[in-house]
Amino acid sequence: MEHSFWHSKWQKNEIGFHEPKGNALLVKYAEKLLEPDTSKIPRIFVPLCGKTRDISWLLSQGAEVVGAELSELAIEQLFEELGVSPNITTTPKGKIYSKDTLTVFVGDIFKLNSQDIGDVSAIYDRAALVALPDTLRAQYASHLAQITNNATQLIISFEYDQSIMAGPPFSVNERMVDTLYADKYHVTRLERSELIGGLKGKVDADNLVFHLVAKQK
Ligand SMILES: C[S@@+](CC[C@H](N)C(=O)[O-])C[C@H]1O[C@@H](n2cnc3c(N)ncnc32)[C@H](O)[C@@H]1O
Repeated sequence: MEHSFWHSKWQKNEIGFHEPKGNALLVKYAEKLLEPDTSKIPRIFVPLCGKTRDISWLLSQGAEVVGAELSELAIEQLFEELGVSPNITTTPKGKIYSKDTLTVFVGDIFKLNSQDIGDVSAIYDRAALVALPDTLRAQYASHLAQITNNATQLIISFEYDQSIMAGPPFSVNERMVDTLYADKYHVTRLERSELIGGLKGKVDADNLVFHLVAKQK
């Protein structure tokens, strides 16, 4: 999608993807993301984060969170809804909104490198991979792995009949996740469950949850 597509969605408040109560599958599978070694503070990267409430939940679990999001409007709303006033710095790559254990890069994720985001222990991808058209997905997958040193991932995607509805969100099934990531990661599907009410009320869909663990660092 063009950047203008997403900017327009945020400007018109057409954000049906946003879950006001956060995602129940994150809570169910959080132990896959949060460090088993309790001596380390988990640092979770949330690509294409929007203003997800999942950030608030991860922070409440003691995690540090690093987000990346194109829309500054989304990030203004994120901080407003968290009830905190961000520090805003401007860099040649875009603005950074931060407060305590939350840092969000505003701009194109493809411009970020591993120095920008620093060490992260895991990636939480909900509605990020599925937001991208297939022409960008391979580039995204390899970029994400590269800037995080193949960090463990929890991916929540949808599978549905793409001929019935055009994305986004696009249908990203297990075979596609394997194709994108199996060279670098062991891919385990943790769950397939019906998306109650279907996708946008237009098409039956399943939620898929994947856990990716690096083959080597
Ligand atoms: C479907 S939404 C999902 C948001 C969030 N993950 C959630 O679960 O609510 C996809 C988000 O990705 C952002 N986005 C799209 N392309 C991007 C890019 N190249 N870099 C950073 N963010 C991008 C959009 O602005 C949008 O907020």
